[in-house]
Amino acid sequence: ARVHEHQFVVQAHKVKRLCKTHNTITVNGQFPGPTLEINNGDTLVVKVTNKARYNVTIHWHGIRQMRTGWADGPEFVTQCPIRPGGSYTYRFTIQGQEGTLWWHAHSSWLRATVYGALIIRPREGDPYPFPKPKRETPILLGEWWDANPIDVVREATRTGAAPNVSDAYTINGQPGDLYKCSSQDTTVVPIDSGETNLLRVINAALNQPLFFTVANHKLTVVGADASYLKPFTTNVLMLGPGQTTDVLITGDQPSSRYYMAARAYQSAQNAPFDNTTTTAILQYRSAKTATSIKTVMPPLPAYNDTNTVTAFSRKFRSLGRPEVPTEIDENLFFTVGLGLNKCPPNFRKRRCQGPNGTRFTSSMNNVSFVLPRNVSILQAHHLGVPGVFTADFPASPPVKFDYTGNVSRSLWQPVRGTKVYKLKYGSRVQVVLQDTSIFTPENHPIHLHGYDFYILAEGFGNFNPKKDTAKFNLVDPPLRNTVAVPVRGWAVIRFVADNPGAWIMHCHLDVHINWGLAMVFLVENGVGKLQSLEAPPADLPLC
Ligand code: C2O
Repeated sequence: ARVHEHQFVVQAHKVKRLCKTHNTITVNGQFPGPTLEINNGDTLVVKVTNKARYNVTIHWHGIRQMRTGWADGPEFVTQCPIRPGGSYTYRFTIQGQEGTLWWHAHSSWLRATVYGALIIRPREGDPYPFPKPKRETPILLGEWWDANPIDVVREATRTGAAPNVSDAYTINGQPGDLYKCSSQDTTVVPIDSGETNLLRVINAALNQPLFFTVANHKLTVVGADASYLKPFTTNVLMLGPGQTTDVLITGDQPSSRYYMAARAYQSAQNAPFDNTTTTAILQYRSAKTATSIKTVMPPLPAYNDTNTVTAFSRKFRSLGRPEVPTEIDENLFFTVGLGLNKCPPNFRKRRCQGPNGTRFTSSMNNVSFVLPRNVSILQAHHLGVPGVFTADFPASPPVKFDYTGNVSRSLWQPVRGTKVYKLKYGSRVQVVLQDTSIFTPENHPIHLHGYDFYILAEGFGNFNPKKDTAKFNLVDPPLRNTVAVPVRGWAVIRFVADNPGAWIMHCHLDVHINWGLAMVFLVENGVGKLQSLEAPPADLPLC
């Protein structure tokens, strides 16, 4: 096993997109940021220096961080932010994970431009569980604003309204041929006739689940979220923000150029969204580069095609025989959803520009999560600082009703708070994640830090323990770090709390974090050193 050292300098850099030059926050002047390539068992040491004018932290999305919770990265959860001029070194070891993950800023909306791929190959000398691909290409799907993303979210926070939707989607940072001033820089992915390549697809978009497809080529899915899957073929992928999918693609079509394309899967109703399409070009190397060849455009599902999403997610099965906990110690039920807060008295009108003079909110079990300000939750827990959080996050919703019915519950007014749920080291945890249609039902990509979890089942309507338990897959459920909870539906996840620390679980639609769709599991130390959190690094940023 090797130790890989990297320097990340977070800094503004001129980036031109959609005809306009922006002072974009980047890592090392690159957009998207550098790709990190390591092997299972290796250690990553990344020194992050902040030369931007914003606070920043970096999160290693999907890395388990066994006993190294101080390196996880979400601001005010496991660390205070790295202030302008400051630095912090993240240090962690890959233990058993293989496939595609990514890294991104975990502070305000900086991750709109501060992100990159994190590729974990098998231990040196170990094979993939599929034929070795000739070439491997990260495909980072992103979202671009023709404005400073930080200003976009600040404005939304000030007005209580929904933020402006993005102006483009991107593939490896480029919008592609269908946008103004963009054709010249369209991402080109080479392929040779007869060869099989691995595409490592990552949805790094801020607020939008995306469909992805390649014209005329079958995609063979072999992994997701750095866990291998029983291979299956499909024409189209759907990835919620945060999710990754590894697919094999074979150059079995006439030598030419084919578009790969991504656009929105939009399940929320009556909500504006970016309805544009980003493209890259799959280019056969033997094809003439003459512009006279017409690039083949693939069909994409309709923006609201939930049936395609369901059919796709039902194909996910772990490779081999995973150890799924068959008994549970914690049986939790969390609602996830949006809502509208009444305008507080003494508020100016401009600050209540949500529907009918309200402010947007969102919550889990009617708690709208608020980050602490002066210390991180993990530091407070570790040092015993009182008054930072309360350990009363509810195990189930305080009021029960028809969560996915058509009733809009404007009366479901969340309480705001920094509430955590404590888990004993080693406890076996089940969480039912239930979408609600308060304001609008929506497919929420729920991401848990510090863990991978098994997705035992997904379904529509209200979860019904009597009949839905029979649908649980305890044999080969997929292991993931982000679950796209079906719109007007539910998903059931299980994990063993074997990693001490403070682990945020949140919707990976970033605006929903701003509105409070998050909670924190506080996992206590077990017996002995190997079950306990390591001591905090000496350079851990303080507030
Ligand atoms: Cu990729 Cu807390 O996120």
